[in-house]
Amino acid sequence: MKIIASNFKTNHTRKSTKLFVEEVNQFLEKENIKNDVYVFPTATSLDTFEVLDNLTIGTQNAYYVKNGSFTGEIGTEQLDEFNIKTILIGHSERRHILGESQKEIAYKYNYYKALGYKIIYCVGEPLEVKEIGMTETLGYIWNQFDGIDLEYDNLVIAYEPVWAIGTGKIPTTEDIEIIHKKIKKKITQPLLYGGSVKTSNISDILDIPNVDGTLIGSGSWNVEDFKEMIKITNTK
Ligand code: PGA
Repeated sequence: MKIIASNFKTNHTRKSTKLFVEEVNQFLEKENIKNDVYVFPTATSLDTFEVLDNLTIGTQNAYYVKNGSFTGEIGTEQLDEFNIKTILIGHSERRHILGESQKEIAYKYNYYKALGYKIIYCVGEPLEVKEIGMTETLGYIWNQFDGIDLEYDNLVIAYEPVWAIGTGKIPTTEDIEIIHKKIKKKITQPLLYGGSVKTSNISDILDIPNVDGTLIGSGSWNVEDFKEMIKITNTK
């Protein structure tokens, strides 16, 4: 069964997140949808939500500590309060805008792996690498696996080309197929595609071999659109 995940990034408030999660939960119940659905709200909107087992609330980020003096960060003490056991690691915005290095990302990965968290680990190449060619693109992605245990059971990988995130551009079906096939040779866990997924293209993307689901940003923030995409995911 295919997976669908919504990354809120810096969108939605505590109040609108609650409404969104409740609405998605009711929808899953009403339509009897069993696919794994993830929602990653902002840190300020994390909470204890009464939801079905297949609807998981995760954190977009956290520091690799229980608690301490790390201004602006949250640790596992804050996640434990809401029983959050799922984390996004390696998202391109954290790599390229917030400046997280592969070394730091690997450290974070290993910290959360040791605690048994479900990790959605994101990889993907920037435009200048894509433009050089497929060999360089794959080499870039392999470097993003440095220090990452690809045998970890509780892992989901998301391939998200940086140039496709929030831009409306997506790779060709052929490119997604090639890259997913190559990554799948290294892993047995699910592999999601992310980058400008929306109601109008999700069906075609899910039909590409080795695409086990999607990680969606902007296209998922409207709950009606997200519900529509869950419904499509359920038919695949
Ligand atoms: P997008 O973002 O759907 O807005 O392109 C995807 C992501 O960053 O996970």
